[in-house]
Amino acid sequence: MKLAILTRNSKLYSTRRLVEAARAQGHTVRTLDPLRCYMHISSTGFAMRYKSRPISGYQVVIPRIGTSVTRYGTAVLRQFELMGTLSINSSDAILRARDKLRSHQMLAARGIGMPVTVFGDNPDDTVDLLEMLGPPPHVIKLNEGTQGAGVMLTEKLSASRGVIEALRGLYAQFLVQEFIPEANGADLRCFVVGNKVVAAMKRQAPIGDFRSNLHRGGSAESAKASRAEQEAAVRAARVLGLGVAGVDLVRSHRGPLVLEVNASPGLEGIESASGVDVAAEIIRYATLMHQAQKAKTRVAKPLTVK
Ligand SMILES: Nc1ncnc2c1ncn2[C@@H]1O[C@H](COP(=O)(O)OP(=O)(O)O)[C@@H](O)[C@H]1O
Ligand SMILES: [Mg+2]
Repeated sequence: MKLAILTRNSKLYSTRRLVEAARAQGHTVRTLDPLRCYMHISSTGFAMRYKSRPISGYQVVIPRIGTSVTRYGTAVLRQFELMGTLSINSSDAILRARDKLRSHQMLAARGIGMPVTVFGDNPDDTVDLLEMLGPPPHVIKLNEGTQGAGVMLTEKLSASRGVIEALRGLYAQFLVQEFIPEANGADLRCFVVGNKVVAAMKRQAPIGDFRSNLHRGGSAESAKASRAEQEAAVRAARVLGLGVAGVDLVRSHRGPLVLEVNASPGLEGIESASGVDVAAEIIRYATLMHQAQKAKTRVAKPLTVK
């Protein structure tokens, strides 16, 4: 099988591990910088080139598209899809997952547990919006924030109002949530591949913080996701249409609550905490996708013969 990894940086741990795992399983693999892929779009066909050479013959693409290049990166991925290449995560699924508000609506609509969330646009509605949510503490999150950077805890109503006013002044989009105190500054990252959680880790926030992101100084240890947690994680990935996802959840008195679903989860933290060869699992999943498609075309062919 010929695989492409779409990534801005071929030296990153996750990219290197995927390349290694693909070669170990006997595949041909190449990394492509999405920003160097350029597209020809016409009603008679789609083509793409990379540094003056045509891109063709890839059976499966593994997108590792960072948040800073979501728009162009997903356009390149869509072009691959239109040219008949399979992707372990589709361009549409990545776009759904990148929008916190949209993914919250989709997950809640399917009954997946999550912290109660409110969202509004007009400053005149702030008081009533917070009233609808309930008393503080509140967690305020930038809609497109990542790695814990846009996540704030406000303990008083006046602080919630102040932060909201400041964010509105900056034209930032955000959502406001109930704070889950019993999470105790920890969350559970469930790494979903296909229909199972292949690895999990518990992340603990450093003293004085409630955000457990490793980029914010959190620490990670191997953990076992309960049956309910595995089910919530797999369902959350499926609702958004993701084949590979990092689902973050917190343990609450009312069961697992999904915080976010990451469409391009890093491999370093989870592989070192869990000891699982997650890269190999992803490549096996890509192979299964490819085989399933081949089987479908084999079955479909006799039907088209007159
Ligand atoms: N409602 C909440 N209650 C308690 N802790 C939370 C809540 N929301 C987020 N956190 C903590 O903050 C961290 C970052 O939040 P998250 O929604 O995952 O944003 P990001 O996309 O920036 O990682 C989580 O991993 C969790 O530890
Ligand atoms: Mg997170």
